Amino acid sequence: MESTSADTQTGRPFSPLQALAQLNPYVWSTGLFMRGFALIKAADHLADGPRTAAELAEATGTHAPSLARFLRACALHGLVTWVGKDRYELTELGQLVRSDVPSLRSFVIAVNGPGMTRVWEHLVDVLKTGEPASKQALGMDHWEWYEANPEEGRYYAECNGLLTVEAAHVIAASYDLSQVTRIVDVGGSPGALLAGALKAAPQATGVLFDLPAAVRNAEKTFAEQGLTDRLELVSGDFMTSVPEGGDLYLVKNILCDLDDTSAATLLRNCLAAMAPGGRLLLLDWIYTDTPSFVHATDVEFMVLTGGRGRTLDEYRQLLVDAGFAPPERVQLRGFEMAPFIVLEAARP
Ligand SMILES: C[S@@+](CC[C@H](N)C(=O)[O-])C[C@H]1O[C@@H](n2cnc3c(N)ncnc32)[C@H](O)[C@@H]1O
Repeated sequence: MESTSADTQTGRPFSPLQALAQLNPYVWSTGLFMRGFALIKAADHLADGPRTAAELAEATGTHAPSLARFLRACALHGLVTWVGKDRYELTELGQLVRSDVPSLRSFVIAVNGPGMTRVWEHLVDVLKTGEPASKQALGMDHWEWYEANPEEGRYYAECNGLLTVEAAHVIAASYDLSQVTRIVDVGGSPGALLAGALKAAPQATGVLFDLPAAVRNAEKTFAEQGLTDRLELVSGDFMTSVPEGGDLYLVKNILCDLDDTSAATLLRNCLAAMAPGGRLLLLDWIYTDTPSFVHATDVEFMVLTGGRGRTLDEYRQLLVDAGFAPPERVQLRGFEMAPFIVLEAARP
């Protein structure tokens, strides 16, 4: 039997069971619990008040004894509370994965899906090699995975739309789109930013450019908003080229997924395709000296795609090195606190 070392402060022997109460080794599973809870839409069926596991099993089409065990553990992850014997009440956290009201459901499902979690298993390899692990973990890169797994790709696209709608409002309020005629959104699925820009610029047409399955995921956004007649959907690889002739190129949350070499290629492709007098709007997370979720997403990019979070100076340098005029920072009304940056770079 292994000997246990003594706690240096109290002198008492180390107790693994007491330590377990301090360090929950199942913390990794919180995301998977939230994802399962979200996928079966348990929160929707608890929204009107507490229910038993049996009632919820019937409503969600699940196996009652298994659901009962799952729900008891969901309380440890903060999604429900136990009320009486075998009745469960939705918490505020649980509300965040409802499908019938605006929520973070698609985000929770996407970031805890196999295309991400399987790659995280290789974190230590990434720390040792400095190389992203999607190919090692999935047999393909991050984007090929979504092309090959359309349902997961749809949740991912929905999650991007969710995170982009606010930015689209802010751009419409903070940036002058009155002279723009042709807007190209590079890697723009599911189209939240381009749709917002087209609404704010009724004189303009738009091109949404992305990978094939991602383009299909964008169709709904424009149809729902009555913008299809001003829109072209184009699929392709932005590492090769991007659609030509735009006077405004939108590049939102693309550079964060790319290493410096690929980011430079993408920016040069935009510059080469741009109409004379054209501009590029770069929208992305900004890496600062204050801890924020950007530091966590930076590690996510490192693991999944080899991308990175960047500082203001790093974004500026990338744009200038790619041949753009020194970029101007766009001040965002109502979005000042977000760890997010918008830079406008003109074709010289
Ligand atoms: C992080 S998402 C950003 C989506 C959108 N711009 C937004 O901010 O909501 C990155 C997008 O780039 C697309 N993408 C990745 N690699 C691509 C490539 N080689 N060519 C075209 N699109 C690509 C993905 O399909 C995805 O839609």
